[in-house]
Amino acid sequence: MTLDVDALLAELTLEEKASLTSGSAFWFTAAVDRLGIPRIMVSDGPHGLRAQPGEGDHVGLGGSLPATCFPTASAVASSWNPDLLRRIGVALAREARACRLSVILGPGINIKRSPLCGRNFEYFSEDPYLTGELGLGIVDGIQSQGVGTSVKHFAANNQETDRQRVDTQVDERTLREIYLPAFERIVTAGQPWTIMCSYNKINGVSASQNAWLLTTVLRDEWGFDGLVVSDWGAVYDRVPALVAGLDLEMPPNRPHSPDQIVAAIRAGNLDETVLDARVRTVLTLVDRGVAVLDLDESFDADQHHRLARAAAAESVVLLANSGGLLPLAADARIAVIGEFARTPRFQGAGSSQVNPTRVENALDELTALLPEVGFAAGYGIDDTASDEALRAEAVRLAAEADTVVMFLGLPGADESEGFDRTHMNLPAGQLATLRAVAQVNSRVVVVLVNGSTVVLGEVVPHAAAIVEAWLGGQAAGGAIADVLTGRVNPSGRLAETIPHRLADNSSYLNFPGDSQVVRYGEGLFVGYRGYDATDTDVAFPFGFGLSYTTFAVDELVVSTSGAVADGTLTAQVSVRVRNTGPVAGAQVVQVYVRDVAASVARPVRELKGFGKVELAPGQARTVTVTLDQRAFSFFSQLLGRWVVEAGEFAVEVGFHSRDLPLSSTIRVDAPSIAAPITAGSTLHEWMADPVALELIGEAVAAGASDPTRDTELVAVIGSMPMSTLAAFSGMSIDHDTLDRLVERWRERTGG
Ligand code: BGC
Repeated sequence: MTLDVDALLAELTLEEKASLTSGSAFWFTAAVDRLGIPRIMVSDGPHGLRAQPGEGDHVGLGGSLPATCFPTASAVASSWNPDLLRRIGVALAREARACRLSVILGPGINIKRSPLCGRNFEYFSEDPYLTGELGLGIVDGIQSQGVGTSVKHFAANNQETDRQRVDTQVDERTLREIYLPAFERIVTAGQPWTIMCSYNKINGVSASQNAWLLTTVLRDEWGFDGLVVSDWGAVYDRVPALVAGLDLEMPPNRPHSPDQIVAAIRAGNLDETVLDARVRTVLTLVDRGVAVLDLDESFDADQHHRLARAAAAESVVLLANSGGLLPLAADARIAVIGEFARTPRFQGAGSSQVNPTRVENALDELTALLPEVGFAAGYGIDDTASDEALRAEAVRLAAEADTVVMFLGLPGADESEGFDRTHMNLPAGQLATLRAVAQVNSRVVVVLVNGSTVVLGEVVPHAAAIVEAWLGGQAAGGAIADVLTGRVNPSGRLAETIPHRLADNSSYLNFPGDSQVVRYGEGLFVGYRGYDATDTDVAFPFGFGLSYTTFAVDELVVSTSGAVADGTLTAQVSVRVRNTGPVAGAQVVQVYVRDVAASVARPVRELKGFGKVELAPGQARTVTVTLDQRAFSFFSQLLGRWVVEAGEFAVEVGFHSRDLPLSSTIRVDAPSIAAPITAGSTLHEWMADPVALELIGEAVAAGASDPTRDTELVAVIGSMPMSTLAAFSGMSIDHDTLDRLVERWRERTGG
């Protein structure tokens, strides 16, 4: 501890304290020179630094220092490898230390509710469990080097449309099960130095003023001990935000915000202890971050570039490979077609944009690795109209080649921070070139370059092989060449479903909302949870990905221990995986849990564990995954807490969400999760509770007529509250009797 926080708090004036809760410049906290409190620097971002010395601009490159551009989140998420994220985190932190940056503004861990969200390239997955594990990996990696993270955007910020004003209307169960768990996982297991609150409202209250979110859930329930910073410009009313738990406003809104805080305290409208608590958090962050200020370090750009290349290669998802077209034969004559091969698109736009230390393109890299490579642009990246001359040239080249490697992708203008897409299509001109090329050469490998998923109905019929390479960072070109030539055996798995049609996605009717409101009407049924619930066929399922080898799983063993009652239920899942093909490769074993019968709506299955293993040809290894009690729980809106419902659960294991050949059913005992019996409980609920049913029986014996005996009547009135029935003549359990029964039920059950 360099700063004596208690002593400083005692010495700071009211104005100085208020000043500390705002930054001093775009990327800096405020200093108090008089007391030796320095300012520290924070900066984007998730897949590479955007450190702007001096003032800088808001988004864009704006003179940012050269930094390694690692693959974007949608790419690295496909690695399903938290350890890779950890290594990237370590590298990011080393670069941060070299520019004396204390806090990296990332990772972004919002759930991909709709494929259209403009920032999907910055987010990991449609699945909260996978997101949490990957996010934890990068947070651990960064913070292991004494640099902080800012896990963002908290919370329910799943679109760019009207992002500052939109009110996300979402029920608590959906928040708890889909939109909050990744934050919860990272906070409870990784204690990030900071959390960044989002721009939007949640159920009517701005995230920055949302005391339930920033204090009740984040601090009181999850035990967060770090600082809450606003997204840049997310504070709309400083004093309520301070009260709600927002420590630091960025960028500074001076002198307005500090003045408002001082005025509120002077007027007796704000307790100074609230300000003191926020200042304590700011000083603690400065204390953590101050160590980097005296460093004189540099980073190894070559080593980081190599890591970026390995990461990009591990992020590639092989979607199709008929006839084993890939890897490319070493002596094949290759036609590389597509402007993206020469002019790579490797990152998205907005606040995450990195000024790369260097950039590889796939054309040069393939040319270096293969003996005969020709090139035709085939289309212009920003072409909206078809370019016949480019297409004709591509067709000529394709006709003479053994194999075509055709790059298709989204132009930068299609996906960015700040706006959402309106469709999932690839540009029509690119597809026209693909069709023309496929007519003269049936051996077409399509390489996709995109941050968010695209529909592939017009690609699949014309491509023998499809490689999803995402926005793979500055070394994507080399990584793609490594995969195409077999130097790297692809092991990426989809972290998001690729549907046949946009309209198949469960958010379709409620995205992006209108009139400043978006209603999460699909509830829990996000991503594969939605496609599975409606039994909708998809183009490529969640978790899917091919390899140059093949794998088999067997010997599933599931054993349970602990008890639900004390929160210790645990299931050990072990399974044997074997590489049954000719080359070494890595496979991701995925473990899903299905509640066989539940009293509430539950997704068909949910990912609750996974493990990635490398295997030599013929080698087998046992993968063990531990499921904790949360893996079987749902959030009960009635009880306001996580519960496990007694009964059977299937543990399903395989290689993607729709290929789960092994399944084992376990029986879980658990205390009842029924709500306490009251006069407002229905007749059905009374009849389902053994004690309540007995009490009705006793009342009947005492002279009332028995409403439970007449099955036809029960079918009609069973869903009515007993208090309503008590008013009906003929029911003969009147209000006084009912109150007595409720009292006795409480005495007997302690409920
Ligand atoms: C973005 C954040 C980013 C911040 C600072 C905001 O517009 O939403 O993700 O960290 O700007 O650049």
